[in-house]
Amino acid sequence: MQCNAFEQVENIMESRPRTACVIGGTGFVASSLVKLLLQKGYSVTTTVRDKENGAKISHLLALQNLGNLKIFQADLTDESSFDDPITGSDFVFHVATPVNFASEDPQNDMIKPAIEGVINVMKACAKAGTVERVVFTSSAATVSINQLNETGLVMDENNWTDVEFLTSVKPPTWGYAVSKTLAEKAAWKFAKEYNINLITIIASLMAGPSLTPEIPSSVTLATSLIIGNKFLVNGLNGMQKLSGSISLAHVKDVCRAHIFVAEKDSAYGRYICCAVNTSVCELADFLRQRFPMYNIPTDLGDVRSKAKLIISSDKLLNEGFKFEYGIEEIYDQSVAYLKDKGLLCD
Ligand SMILES: NC(=O)c1ccc[n+]([C@@H]2O[C@H](COP(=O)([O-])OP(=O)(O)OC[C@H]3O[C@@H](n4cnc5c(N)ncnc54)[C@H](OP(=O)(O)O)[C@@H]3O)[C@@H](O)[C@H]2O)c1
Repeated sequence: MQCNAFEQVENIMESRPRTACVIGGTGFVASSLVKLLLQKGYSVTTTVRDKENGAKISHLLALQNLGNLKIFQADLTDESSFDDPITGSDFVFHVATPVNFASEDPQNDMIKPAIEGVINVMKACAKAGTVERVVFTSSAATVSINQLNETGLVMDENNWTDVEFLTSVKPPTWGYAVSKTLAEKAAWKFAKEYNINLITIIASLMAGPSLTPEIPSSVTLATSLIIGNKFLVNGLNGMQKLSGSISLAHVKDVCRAHIFVAEKDSAYGRYICCAVNTSVCELADFLRQRFPMYNIPTDLGDVRSKAKLIISSDKLLNEGFKFEYGIEEIYDQSVAYLKDKGLLCD
């Protein structure tokens, strides 16, 4: 039986590999996402800030052995730099964000470039004309920061962080939470105005092994009770006080969720991606039992023993997503990774 011309074009389209562009390939999450996309047979483009910095992109160069990966240079603040990497893409994963928790000028270091970046990336998506879906990596910091005093709260995709509280009180790390919240809101506004099919993944604190040359700060934060770094343990306490809980996921699950929502026709809107809701005290109890060889602190300061809230991944689970890693696997793999990197001994 002969195909007509239309069917022939459709068959060619179906046999061509799916194409994805990952913005900010050098990062902890983005490099894991690039790897997963290549393993799934995607043809991938990714952007880095400095293509000539061999040491910083060495893990991406190594991934080129897995499949078709092209590396482009782009900066969130340079509108036209995203045209070439995004041209021809089916999916765009906007993962990059400026992270500088020590910044004395969060407005210029994080908030402004994060918002500008989302607009620049989405403008390039609109121009390309091929992009079926944009997946933006958001954060639990856009959902659960509020001044509510109750306990037992369940936060979901309808909740938004209280930006007015953050900008007036300026608690530690406020600039990051504001940058993520305003960037996600800007993404939704642009998507509505330009009819872009946008989905956001609201990621919790991630741990697990990293491909990056440096150990990611989120892994050292999540494992601070094991490493015994007092400054980071204070940071974890601060996270619970500000966000209301310690919410965790394995980096690979979060990357799987990005691809899951991109490929799932029925997916829409925001999706929280959090495998574990806990508190610093509960986490310390768990780690003390799981890793008796490490000196997990018992004096944890003035943090509440129970989290005041949980963030719910029910929407993602109801869509059919399954987490592959629970708290045991997240910490077993993080500890193995830190040993491999020489940061922990047996
Ligand atoms: N890690 C977590 O626990 C966690 C939790 C919730 C949400 N998230 C979200 O997940 C995403 C990835 O986080 P991550 O942990 O992978 O962070 P990361 O390792 O610090 O990576 C951030 C990436 O953004 C890039 N970037 C920063 N400023 C840029 C600019 N002006 N132009 C272009 N690229 C720029 C960085 O490029 P350079 O390498 O050149 O600096 C890097 O590739 C972020 O959107 C973050 O908010 C992370």
